[in-house]
Amino acid sequence: MNSLSTNHLLGIKDLTQNDIELIFKTATHFKEVINRPIKKVPSLRDITIANLFFENSTRTKLSFELAEKRLSADILNFSASQSSVSKGETLIDTANNILSMKVDMIVMRHPYVGAGVFLSKNVKATIINAGDGTHEHPTQALLDSYTIQENLGEVKGKKVVIIGDILHSRVALSNILALKLQGATVKVCGPLSLIPKHITSLGVDIETDVYKALQWCDVANVLRVQHERMDIKYFPSIREYTQLFGINKRMLDSLGKKILLMHPGPINRGVEITSDVADSEHSVILNQVENGVAIRMAVIYLLAEKIKRN
Ligand code: CP
Repeated sequence: MNSLSTNHLLGIKDLTQNDIELIFKTATHFKEVINRPIKKVPSLRDITIANLFFENSTRTKLSFELAEKRLSADILNFSASQSSVSKGETLIDTANNILSMKVDMIVMRHPYVGAGVFLSKNVKATIINAGDGTHEHPTQALLDSYTIQENLGEVKGKKVVIIGDILHSRVALSNILALKLQGATVKVCGPLSLIPKHITSLGVDIETDVYKALQWCDVANVLRVQHERMDIKYFPSIREYTQLFGINKRMLDSLGKKILLMHPGPINRGVEITSDVADSEHSVILNQVENGVAIRMAVIYLLAEKIKRN
């Protein structure tokens, strides 16, 4: 198979194991390209992409933009705060106005769950979900799994624990779906108030003792507490959260084994992980960011191939 089974990337739930293998194989090729002195290929000179960001982003926005530039696509950058959305324009009208300028693909981050699916059903363009509320962040999960594969040889059979605010995390859901599809064993760990009630229906176990979780795992993917999505208090204080669920170097050193320490960013140093953990030999956090460009090049390239064929 050298073609994706889907015309959009809306969530990991729409991907097959073959799709993930194809994306990783393509990303490995592009990772070699972006380490050359000339980091660019002419593959997408005939494709125009609009990046619609209705929510803040550092890594995902810059990574998509760089991936598109490395592929020689023409790009338009849109940020909601500087647009006519603030004057009451609908999402469909905004997208259709942008598409009438002969745009082929939309990369969108939006605060609402399902915004990408909604757009894909209402406009004529390929849609890539760059994060929809608390739902999915498929390219983050792909770059996370790719980083595990690169560091540990394969994802299949690995024990992965996702630690922190699972309830508000699109990274958690996309990671669980991607890891399970590839044959990893997954646990989630955090305060029970921040773990969705039905999470075990996804085939994951719950652990509330962070040290036990670290002793069990090959990979710990640590998430930020998303205060901006909370309208009630889920735990008494940040200090207590850090005492019970924060990861420090002393804990990692006492494990007697090396684990892969991941974080999608942005990090709250001193809350979910200490600075010496973020910068330790366990950490592959910047490796994840580097792989993000190659993964996004692969996703964009494979979806653009489908546009060209249709
Ligand atoms: N990992 C991630 O989505 O980071 P940004 O919010 O900075 O894009």
